[in-house]
Amino acid sequence: MFDRLGEQPADKILSLMSAFRADPRAGKVDLGVGVYKDATGNTPVMRAVRAAERRLVEAQTTKAYTALAGDPAFADAMIALVLGDAVPRAAVAAVATPGGTGAVRQAFELVRMANPAAKVWASDPTWPNHLSIIRHLGIPLESYRYFDEATRGLDREGMLADLARVAPGDVVLLHGCCHNPTGVNPDADDWARIIAVLQERGAVPMVDLAYQGFGDGLGEDAAATRAIASAFPECLIAASCSKNFGIYRERTGILMAVMQDAGRRDLVQGNLAYLNRQNYSFPPDHGARVVATILGDPELRADWEAELEEIRAGMLALRAQLADELKRLTNSDRFEFIRSHRGMFSRLGASPGQVERMRAAHGIYMVGDSRINIAGLNRDTVPVLARAIVEAGV
Ligand code: LMR
Repeated sequence: MFDRLGEQPADKILSLMSAFRADPRAGKVDLGVGVYKDATGNTPVMRAVRAAERRLVEAQTTKAYTALAGDPAFADAMIALVLGDAVPRAAVAAVATPGGTGAVRQAFELVRMANPAAKVWASDPTWPNHLSIIRHLGIPLESYRYFDEATRGLDREGMLADLARVAPGDVVLLHGCCHNPTGVNPDADDWARIIAVLQERGAVPMVDLAYQGFGDGLGEDAAATRAIASAFPECLIAASCSKNFGIYRERTGILMAVMQDAGRRDLVQGNLAYLNRQNYSFPPDHGARVVATILGDPELRADWEAELEEIRAGMLALRAQLADELKRLTNSDRFEFIRSHRGMFSRLGASPGQVERMRAAHGIYMVGDSRINIAGLNRDTVPVLARAIVEAGV
């Protein structure tokens, strides 16, 4: 049987991780996978996470199964964190999932079960694994324009024109904040126009919110998601705790289905629990319980928010330093987009050849589409990257 298997395409981001590890050069710089790193290159365990874990170790009396939907306190806390008071709690069905990827996967499975005719529309570009999962599930896929190669900003008119072709019932995948891989984000006016077009088309929005707190702040980064949740009869939200709680390996995420007709909530909740049961039974619990502990304790929560804010401010400072350095080297404003992008990523707009040159000559690793992880930099490596960008002729 095994001989009938074909090779699977390597994941571009994960292969880059291996290539970086194998490079013996001392001055190499990893701007690949989307993992936050501090100035020393370490991905720290956040203070509040460590404290919550200590409490759990002391207080937990059992490791027996939870519920198929996961710990209800986790769902309540995450729904409040993401949605604020945009919709009543009774309008949301939710299940804990293994990370944001698990939530994305379950969301697409739900779409396929509920409406096999629905297409999923994804931004061009998007996180490559979105496309991989959609294809793996055999869901028809369409893309909408998003990135303007010339300005490295939003292709507003292209995006709106493409979204105007969405059929009723189609699912439109949107990044709630900190677009991956570009770092380009619609502003409030853009969101209002996007929402209006999708309402007119009868589309079902699906928001992937993987970086809440990494862009403009916890509330600000959820604003578009909240606006969507209150504007549509139905929407899906896949949220990740990997980045904003720094608990990547604990696999902590949540899928929310929001509906105006609260009478359908139990039906949807039952379907989400069913999907969890089919795929892995119970979702991972440790990270979810850490998150619920932090969000439910005023002191831990304040400390978490403060550390998250330090992380966010640090990334903005690196953006500013890189933009300043490039301005100085090129005597132009060509790279100002780096300052206005938000989140962990910026797409530089370099060609694959230029990306390769930066890797070969300077040991700088970025994704082939020229996505850089800003958090992979520090004050000392910013000038190295800036010189490499200019030398490569970007
Ligand atoms: C990324 O885009 O680098 C992250 O979301 C990590 C991943 O799983 O690809």
